[in-house]
Amino acid sequence: MIYIIGAMSRNRVVGKEGKIPWKVAEELSLFRKITYGNVVVMGRKTFDAIGGLEGRRNIVLSGSRMAEGVEHYGNLEEALSKAETSGKRVFVIGGGETFSEALPFASFIYLSVIGVECEGDSFFPELDERQWHRVGRRACERFVFLVYERNGYSHSIVEGGLSVIS
Ligand SMILES: NC(=O)c1ccc[n+]([C@@H]2O[C@H](COP(=O)([O-])OP(=O)(O)OC[C@H]3O[C@@H](n4cnc5c(N)ncnc54)[C@H](OP(=O)(O)O)[C@@H]3O)[C@@H](O)[C@H]2O)c1
Repeated sequence: MIYIIGAMSRNRVVGKEGKIPWKVAEELSLFRKITYGNVVVMGRKTFDAIGGLEGRRNIVLSGSRMAEGVEHYGNLEEALSKAETSGKRVFVIGGGETFSEALPFASFIYLSVIGVECEGDSFFPELDERQWHRVGRRACERFVFLVYERNGYSHSIVEGGLSVIS
């Protein structure tokens, strides 16, 4: 079971020049709460920007050599299958290129929509209504937290997703 978790602006920006163009503490702590103790899979550019996340198994996707000690794989299928052997939840955490590539493998999406419009160079992919439906929505002060489920899955996991901010 693969989860995608990300935050985008109203115009679907997730990053600009290697950085996330907003700072919303409540959203970051929600991200930490959901992913903590689990496995996170990220693209190399995101890893360059944020490094490894404490309290989580970090897996990096890269076609290049990486520093010793960084668990990395040269293709997504291999990264996801290694991640799944842990028995923990597997979260793909970005950036834009990695979100798009992981979308066909994901069953759930936790998506924070930040209440801004901004310029960027990395985007969250459009969700095809034939593939995804929204099963949860919670309004927070500076963002809306949305939960999407791939058509055909049960809702049981979603309860866990929404309960983290209730
Ligand atoms: N708002 C959010 O939720 C969020 C979350 C994370 C990051 N971000 C932002 O997103 C931006 C980075 O996103 P990005 O799209 O530029 O880059 P990215 O997805 O973080 O990383 C892309 C890199 O990952 C590697 N990669 C991706 N797919 C691969 C595959 N199938 N096989 C092998 N390697 C693969 C490649 O590395 P190599 O070039 O080494 O081969 C590729 O250049 C930054 O601005 C960051 O701050 C936003």
